[in-house]
Amino acid sequence: MSDSIILEVQHITRDFGKFRALNGVSLKIPKGRLCALIGPNGAGKTTFYNVVSGRYRPSSGKIFFDGRDVSGLPPHRRVALGMLRSFQITNIFPALTVIENVMAPLIVHQGLSFSFWGSLKKHKALAAEAEQILERVGLAGHSGSMVSTLAYGDKRLIEIAIVLARKPKLVLLDEPTAGMNPEETDRMINLIKELSQQSDTTFFITEHDMKVVFSVSETIFVLNQGSLLAEGAPEIIKSDPKVRQVYLGGNLHAAGG
Ligand SMILES: Nc1ncnc2c1ncn2[C@@H]1O[C@H](COP(=O)(O)OP(=O)(O)OP(=O)(O)O)[C@@H](O)[C@H]1O
Ligand SMILES: [Mg+2]
Repeated sequence: MSDSIILEVQHITRDFGKFRALNGVSLKIPKGRLCALIGPNGAGKTTFYNVVSGRYRPSSGKIFFDGRDVSGLPPHRRVALGMLRSFQITNIFPALTVIENVMAPLIVHQGLSFSFWGSLKKHKALAAEAEQILERVGLAGHSGSMVSTLAYGDKRLIEIAIVLARKPKLVLLDEPTAGMNPEETDRMINLIKELSQQSDTTFFITEHDMKVVFSVSETIFVLNQGSLLAEGAPEIIKSDPKVRQVYLGGNLHAAGG
């Protein structure tokens, strides 16, 4: 496999009983590229992320991450290799401050035990790194706040900060703007775009808002009924007759495509 491919899935199939949620999906994601996975409700996007991240086993097929076959590895081993998935707000500790939430994964990443927490609280280097990450996601002013006091959009940004603290090679974001108002959506999407441009980290997102998808993605993959329908640059996807058929009268139209 080429050095420049961060994720390659080969002929992934996933059945739930008699229902085939993923049907022989193959794709390659180049390092550093901002990619999106789109498709109608029930197309198999979340199932795909669950299989790639190791939460679900594929019924058949293989997954290569950074040149290595990870098909048999449990989720935490994939995380340790640099494949991160946003874990939603449920993974944030509401009773800790914002900066403590970001310091915790930094400690884990450095292989230090939680029993060091007390002394590490004073560890300036670690705190400085956490501050830097918070600055990158636009939460610099909130480091001392209790998470429980933050607005919804800010909590979702902490989620991104926690992911960044693990120094990911690939970040899988399943609907990062779900439940956000337009302003929060803009902020999140601009952040993902910026992070993608400023680092080697590869972002692979799902998103329902076609306007957002077409404005931010470099490559788009379209899933329909568990099969990959199309892939390519936004302009190619926008004018693909098969894709238009699937979205006929729907969001694609609204996006001016
Ligand atoms: N654990 C499961 N058991 C049985 N069926 C499942 C399971 N998970 C997903 N499915 C089915 O697989 C299909 C794909 O679901 P999935 O959640 O992956 O779609 P999606 O593309 O993420 O949809 P959405 O846009 O609504 O998030 C659906 O028909 C769903 O009901
Ligand atoms: Mg989904």
